[in-house]
Amino acid sequence: MVAMNIVITGGSGFVGSYLSERLINDGHNLIVVDNLLTGSTENIRDLMDDKNFSFIEHDVQNHIEIENKVDYVLHFASAASPKAYTEHPVNTLKAGSIGTLNTLGLAKKHNSQYLLASTSEVYGDPLISPQNEEYWGNVNPNGERSMYDEAKRFAEAAVATYSRSYDIKAKIVRIFNTYGPRMQLNDGRVVTNFIFQALQDNNITIYGDGSQTRSFSYVEDTVDGIISLMQSNEYDVFNIGNPNEITVLELAQKIIELTNSKSEIVFKSLPSDDPKQRKPDISKAKSKLGWEPKVNLEDGLIKTIDWVEYKLTTE
Ligand SMILES: NC(=O)c1ccc[n+]([C@@H]2O[C@H](COP(=O)([O-])OP(=O)(O)OC[C@H]3O[C@@H](n4cnc5c(N)ncnc54)[C@H](O)[C@@H]3O)[C@@H](O)[C@H]2O)c1
Repeated sequence: MVAMNIVITGGSGFVGSYLSERLINDGHNLIVVDNLLTGSTENIRDLMDDKNFSFIEHDVQNHIEIENKVDYVLHFASAASPKAYTEHPVNTLKAGSIGTLNTLGLAKKHNSQYLLASTSEVYGDPLISPQNEEYWGNVNPNGERSMYDEAKRFAEAAVATYSRSYDIKAKIVRIFNTYGPRMQLNDGRVVTNFIFQALQDNNITIYGDGSQTRSFSYVEDTVDGIISLMQSNEYDVFNIGNPNEITVLELAQKIIELTNSKSEIVFKSLPSDDPKQRKPDISKAKSKLGWEPKVNLEDGLIKTIDWVEYKLTTE
């Protein structure tokens, strides 16, 4: 890609910080817009002194003004874990709705390209598996996760509408469960939760009977997929994730094995609207973007375990 002026919202979060690193390393000028709700400047510490990098502390629910020319807008700002969006429900609703309109407004003003970070949660509790991009989903419009799921569905509608109405060149990435170093340790996401519990030989808590499935993509694979989409001439919706499906119980057992833990597995009741199955169909990304994930679960888990271990010893 030729060097561009890029604005990324949510760039100090987990996925956003890896993406920011890649974009700076690829020679772009980058502005991160983030209110630090769930992100941290620690994640982008190495970028702070780069002459091509700047950081604006700002909530995307408020108007975003950038003076210099913007070539590309990436909208990643949103609480993303069930724990985080339950703690910040209104901000999550607004980041997905008003925040998407504000970032689209920025793209419209600058005639920039646009990429929305959507989510596999737009498929809700899916009635088909694997989920391909044609599937419209099975979502509870006013359930306990609706501030996230429905805001992201609205965000997709907003991108499609602005793109049709104002000829904005826009792309949507539906990210499936992504894991790796820099995830917050206390935000309830299953991989870090289990590792955290296993490393301390505490009980590993499974919600439900553990038969629900998830497919985990290592963060570098997810970011490769997003960059491939950015670089392509495809203005469309793409699933990015790892189709390697595993039950939550198998994940817990694998983490116990890899950490040599004495943890026992305990079962608690399932929260409402927890999807029973999650597996991306990535054939579109494979054929049109030439992308597929490379990191197998065990290798990714080992890197994540090392990182959680490091965090536990340094904090
Ligand atoms: N990690 C995943 O598995 C996953 C899966 C599907 C979709 N996504 C999407 O990817 C994006 C990033 O997710 P993540 O896992 O890195 O989460 P994260 O919580 O680590 O990062 C989100 C970032 O957005 C910022 N933010 C939140 N609300 C904001 C607001 N109102 N204004 C400005 N900044 C705000 C946070 O401070 C944080 O830096 C989100 O849009 C999420 O929906 C992630």
